[in-house]
Amino acid sequence: MSTTPARTALYPGSFDPFHVGHLDVVEQAVELFGSVVVAAMHNPGKPSGVIDLETRVRLAQTSVAHLPSVRVVAFPGLAVDAARDLGADFIVKGLRSASDFDVEQQMAHTNHSVSGVRTVYVPARPDVSYVSSRFIREIGSHGGPIGHMLPAVVADEVATILRRRSDR
Ligand code: PNS
Repeated sequence: MSTTPARTALYPGSFDPFHVGHLDVVEQAVELFGSVVVAAMHNPGKPSGVIDLETRVRLAQTSVAHLPSVRVVAFPGLAVDAARDLGADFIVKGLRSASDFDVEQQMAHTNHSVSGVRTVYVPARPDVSYVSSRFIREIGSHGGPIGHMLPAVVADEVATILRRRSDR
């Protein structure tokens, strides 16, 4: 049997917040590549996100703590620069739907055209393919049930953060 050398995949995203769909992508990427760097992307000149960057990174770190070949970082700027600086061979993305595909395909081609870095898609697990950070934020800000869409180790904290933010 031939063995494939371990590779590193970059998984860029906003992770606002990191949810069970993200965890599924990370777990699939570990199987495919060996190592994964989860990068919470941000633009230093433009604060973004409902949950602050440091907290987003910490929640993602807690969510993947059971996977020793995964690390989580914050990265300012372009995904292709993150791939180069963090030693990633590929970018990995999860696809939930045809509309995800349309957006991701344009990004993948653009990223390849400017850097030569290729993007590999993994299909979202059917039972988590409806999950989105946007709806978690919206439901969570009204105190609605979001725990089933979040990694169990961070579910209570995310619910508290989103409820508090809506009180401001
Ligand atoms: O979780 P999201 O919001 O779908 O992630 C989008 C993200 C962060 C992966 C994408 O916006 C991105 O790669 N941003 C970094 C800036 C960049 O590389 N822009 C060029 C895209 S072709």
